[in-house]
Amino acid sequence: MQKLLKGKPIALAINKVSKSLIAEYNLDPKMLLIQVGDDPASSYYVQSIIKMAEHLDCKAELLTLSAKSSQQDLIKTIKEANADPAIHGIMIQKPLPKSMDDSYINMCINPDKDIDALHPLNLGKILIEEDGFLPNTPAAVYYTLKYYQIETIGKHIVILGRSNVVGKPLANMLLWKRPSANATVTVCHSRTTNLAAICKNADILIAAIGKAEFVGPDMVRDGAILLDVGINEKKKDDGSIGYVGDIDFNSCYSKAAAITPVPGGIGRITTSLLYLNLVKSNLIAKNINKTIDEYLNMIFSENQ
Ligand SMILES: NC(=O)c1ccc[n+]([C@@H]2O[C@H](COP(=O)([O-])OP(=O)(O)OC[C@H]3O[C@@H](n4cnc5c(N)ncnc54)[C@H](OP(=O)(O)O)[C@@H]3O)[C@@H](O)[C@H]2O)c1
Repeated sequence: MQKLLKGKPIALAINKVSKSLIAEYNLDPKMLLIQVGDDPASSYYVQSIIKMAEHLDCKAELLTLSAKSSQQDLIKTIKEANADPAIHGIMIQKPLPKSMDDSYINMCINPDKDIDALHPLNLGKILIEEDGFLPNTPAAVYYTLKYYQIETIGKHIVILGRSNVVGKPLANMLLWKRPSANATVTVCHSRTTNLAAICKNADILIAAIGKAEFVGPDMVRDGAILLDVGINEKKKDDGSIGYVGDIDFNSCYSKAAAITPVPGGIGRITTSLLYLNLVKSNLIAKNINKTIDEYLNMIFSENQ
């Protein structure tokens, strides 16, 4: 196994499969991105998703609602997209204004168009190991383990963070009774005691807490595999802004058997997985349903 677990080859392998499925089934995948307000960080992220569409022979349309829009306005927009056969996938840019009820809005998305896997039906399917849409960031971790052939069966995987978008779905995926899972999983959070000792016991440590360079060498076992989901802004010495993960890359590198970089690691894969979900939703609309394992086999059989 190589030491630096880059996301780029995985993203390219996923993109290749998306494009070949589009050609094979003559698909016309279209995503609707809904943004409420004009927060610059959200706009930047949304634009980066839109930019990727044409490289993948997909369409991505942005619908921006004013920051003053009501929850009813947003729900009306979602329901119109649910009913529009030309739109296969819906992505709602978060965070939403505080006045809106996130959970209720997630439930308004048609589960078959839920390419960000926010609907409770898709999250619930993860729990009972049924095929549905996978949330992109946990899936990016899962694909990384699979691509780099990292053994997970019986391994102790410690996840830092228990959010609904990363930590909790990921923990449940790693418990699946499948070759790339079957792990013993510990999930830690801000109330966990003896955090460093638990982390030091991990064969594979996954950090998703949103705290820059939080994990230091004192929390890492010699030979552990470190996967960093965190993306945090950090001022560089020259005053410019760069990005670092939740793991202190430089000080943990020598202890790790392998480590993902930030940027260029897990985050590099997520947009490709969003488009793969869009292709999946277009296939579902044509009554063609491929399982998670079928997608994984398509992606990894050619690339290993
Ligand atoms: N790579 C990507 O594409 C991608 C996508 C999504 C998120 N992210 C990044 O991943 C990180 C996590 O995102 P998120 O949305 O899951 O964050 P979140 O919703 O803020 O959740 C953070 C989790 O970390 C826990 N936590 C916070 N401080 C802690 C501490 N000192 N010790 C132990 N646990 C602590 C919290 O515990 P409590 O539950 O007790 O509060 C919570 O469970 C962020 O850096 C985010 O930018 C990356």
